[in-house]
Amino acid sequence: MKFFIDTANLKEIQEAHELGVLDGVTTNPSLMAKEGISGKNNIMSHYKAICNIVDGDVSAEVISTDFDGMIREAEELIEIDEKIVVKVPMIKDGVKAIKYLSDRGIKTNCTLVFSAGQAILAAKAGASYVSPFIGRLDDVSYDGMELIEQIVTIYQNFSYTTEVLAASVRHPVHIIKCAEVGADVITAPLSAIMALLKHPLTDIGLEKFLADYKKTNQ
Ligand code: E4P
Repeated sequence: MKFFIDTANLKEIQEAHELGVLDGVTTNPSLMAKEGISGKNNIMSHYKAICNIVDGDVSAEVISTDFDGMIREAEELIEIDEKIVVKVPMIKDGVKAIKYLSDRGIKTNCTLVFSAGQAILAAKAGASYVSPFIGRLDDVSYDGMELIEQIVTIYQNFSYTTEVLAASVRHPVHIIKCAEVGADVITAPLSAIMALLKHPLTDIGLEKFLADYKKTNQ
């Protein structure tokens, strides 16, 4: 399972990259705004800065909601770096745009997916990634993990090549469950990735090993 980090924060991206487990980055307009990045030129150069840190795919989201606008933006975004994947919302013109872009060999990430039906459309349109939002479903009393499992099964049934990119991950258990059900990718905040590291018995065990070493190596 690939690990993407879901942030536009360069320090966090660098930290995850240095851990050696980072396969890519996802961003969205809210994450860019959180970092105070605004204006087309600043946004474009921020994407470039992200691409300079990581080795894998970097999702950059279009803000147009009409087909022509999305294609225009996609064409500009892919000029930034070959790592850019065009992130397109699951709306009617978005599906058309994904089909158009995938027919031309441009990688896409279909975002804001909340149902299996939407995931089927994204795969049929040729999306490289589909992004079902686990946490936001949990927030409204639907089981986000069930959706991931359902999409993984459907894609396996038909050998769809679209990768299931579990998004809106909130904690380490989401990541573990995604691995169990066979999601291809998770995108998570740095805190959730780092939380995988932690176990109190590891800390207690290490403390004892080091204390015993110290006793016999004064
Ligand atoms: C997906 O790519 C989105 O950027 C993201 O995972 C949304 O997460 P949130 O629900 O925590 O905002």
